[in-house]
Amino acid sequence: MKFVYSEVLRCPLDHHPLKLDIGCLRCPDGHVFDIASQGYVNLLGAADKRSRNPGDGKEMVTARRDFLNAGHYQPAADALNRLVEPLVSNNSVIVDAGCGEGYYLQQLAKKIAASGVLKPSLVGFDISKSAIRAATRRSNATWLVASNRNIPLVANSVDCVLSLFGFPILNSFRSVLKASGSLILVDAGPQHLIELRKVIYPQVHHSDSKMLQQVCAAGFLPEKTSTLQFQTDPLSQLEVHQLLSMTPHLFRATKEGKARAALLDNFRVTVDIVFQHLKKSGKIESFSSSNGDVG
Ligand SMILES: C[S@@+](CC[C@H](N)C(=O)[O-])C[C@H]1O[C@@H](n2cnc3c(N)ncnc32)[C@H](O)[C@@H]1O
Repeated sequence: MKFVYSEVLRCPLDHHPLKLDIGCLRCPDGHVFDIASQGYVNLLGAADKRSRNPGDGKEMVTARRDFLNAGHYQPAADALNRLVEPLVSNNSVIVDAGCGEGYYLQQLAKKIAASGVLKPSLVGFDISKSAIRAATRRSNATWLVASNRNIPLVANSVDCVLSLFGFPILNSFRSVLKASGSLILVDAGPQHLIELRKVIYPQVHHSDSKMLQQVCAAGFLPEKTSTLQFQTDPLSQLEVHQLLSMTPHLFRATKEGKARAALLDNFRVTVDIVFQHLKKSGKIESFSSSNGDVG
């Protein structure tokens, strides 16, 4: 896949704009970033990672790719597209932060292509190199290895940041967004995968999300919150394994819980997703970032 250059790229080291050169991106201070043959650029500085290979590993990436390609989360992609489409105009910049193997950005790209002549700039980045390598096989977008902690995009240049099931770092998102920019946070609701959670945990806990308070404190205004609930088709044993492997439950479940999950077949799960549409506001109450991350 050919690398798709975007004018909003900036050097992760000194924040200067990055220009396209032969086989690389260059900043005026002489920092050079090679374009990988697969069609992405690694803009992850040594200071932006906490381990040698941060983010999701190859196995998780493959599991997520295969599970999502089977269409089990298609209603989620459709709901996301309905939210994002009105925000897209010609030359707008839409960024999927922590895009994984690129399923949702590809679904959005297809929808935009089908509905007319708009040509937004689509940027997907993830801290995981395996995820971005997989994403380059999907669609034409600007694919980057990069971290939410140091987003290599020019300040105030982005129309919409998407963060799906990710590790949002709100002050970074705010800094790259234009004054009127939108942030769409997508996360699991209380009933998400409840049937699977009942199998893998001795007791199911309902965590109270503090995200809305955090986003407001970090300088965002809530525009709209919506939820989506549906049941998947019956999942095969392999698909249950893929689903478990693409979520943090893979690390949290007990050995016994995982053994029980391995026996599940023809198993339906509830998908419960919360979509929060937020607008960048002029006011920051405190300099808050959320969750932390696995980088
Ligand atoms: C649960 S997956 C979700 C992937 C994708 N958004 C989706 O919904 O299919 C979380 C992703 O966040 C990535 N990630 C973790 N820490 C990150 C960071 N600091 N910056 C960017 N991506 C990060 C992981 O590598 C992983 O691909």
